[in-house]
Amino acid sequence: MLEHFIPQVNQLTSKGTAPGGKLLRYGYLGVVMLKLLGRTDVKITAIGIGTWQMKRDDNSVQVIRKGIEAGSNFVDTAELYRNEDMIGKAVADLDDVFVATKVSPTHFRYEKVLKACDGSLRRLGVKQIDLYQLHWPNPHIPIEETMRAMERLVDEGKIRYIGVSNFDLDELQRAQESMKRYEIVSNQVEYSPFVRYIEKDLLSYCEKEKISVIAYSPLKHGHALESLSRERNPFAQLAESRKATVPQIILRWLISKGNVIAIPKTSHAERVVENVRSQDIELSDSDIHELDEYASRLNSRSTKDRLGGITNFVLRFFR
Ligand SMILES: NC(=O)c1ccc[n+]([C@@H]2O[C@H](COP(=O)([O-])OP(=O)(O)OC[C@H]3O[C@@H](n4cnc5c(N)ncnc54)[C@H](OP(=O)(O)O)[C@@H]3O)[C@@H](O)[C@H]2O)c1
Repeated sequence: MLEHFIPQVNQLTSKGTAPGGKLLRYGYLGVVMLKLLGRTDVKITAIGIGTWQMKRDDNSVQVIRKGIEAGSNFVDTAELYRNEDMIGKAVADLDDVFVATKVSPTHFRYEKVLKACDGSLRRLGVKQIDLYQLHWPNPHIPIEETMRAMERLVDEGKIRYIGVSNFDLDELQRAQESMKRYEIVSNQVEYSPFVRYIEKDLLSYCEKEKISVIAYSPLKHGHALESLSRERNPFAQLAESRKATVPQIILRWLISKGNVIAIPKTSHAERVVENVRSQDIELSDSDIHELDEYASRLNSRSTKDRLGGITNFVLRFFR
């Protein structure tokens, strides 16, 4: 699906390197930061478009198209979000958008993975899913069984790449070891200035193994913005001095990490442009260091930490 995006980007003038990728001038709008997906040669913009809680309506279609026009080539959804058909509609006439979806952990048995994939293909209206991710680990189903189905889907051309989501380091390693022919290209995990548990070991492991980290809830569902905008802190100060917004500084800080791609969600056209254009904000190494320092003092529990126990309990009924 991405082939047409690359020539379009190649016509643009190179503007230097970005952490883990390339900076390219994007028409009159500014700069896009491209990152390689895992060990593949697929180039994804550092800001993608998250779609959880986006309705299946025309506004959502317009927001997604606006985000793509502003310089994003990556849209993330899931069968659980019940909006794959809307995403399919938004990108139907665009060859250059990379679409990721997810199979729910209730569908990790071999036959169920295959069936879930057919459902996503049908709703998205595509012949191939660019990135198919395991949404959340299911400890009650052998990962070998799930991965066997995922590998078959690649062999059949129904999916292009395999990713996981919410996998801790040991879960990621086990998932990779259980595969025979393909590699995991990405792990989608919660990451924001407030939720930084992946910095303990997962982020550096993924960097070393060339696994892309797709940062979800990068604005902490919007909760990050109020406190960071209100108080004097480097996020607010840099926003002021760069004539940017706090969400833009948060996103720019996240994508300064080599292998991180962030996927903020918004249902507002002006905000999707704001978020996508955060790629264009210039921050120096010392700015990033200052943001790192400040973020190291913030600490909220991750969604996985809060909901992991109950999710595992519920998943017992979907063995
Ligand atoms: N794999 C997983 O388990 C998992 C879990 C959660 C999320 N995700 C993915 O990650 C995506 C993003 O995460 P999220 O939706 O949880 O949270 P988020 O992107 O951190 O925050 C979204 C919230 O921030 C607001 N917002 C966005 N841009 C803004 C801006 N520029 N200024 C002010 N407010 C802004 C949005 O409000 P408005 O919509 O009103 O603008 C929305 O309420 C999801 O959509 C989904 O694709 C994956």
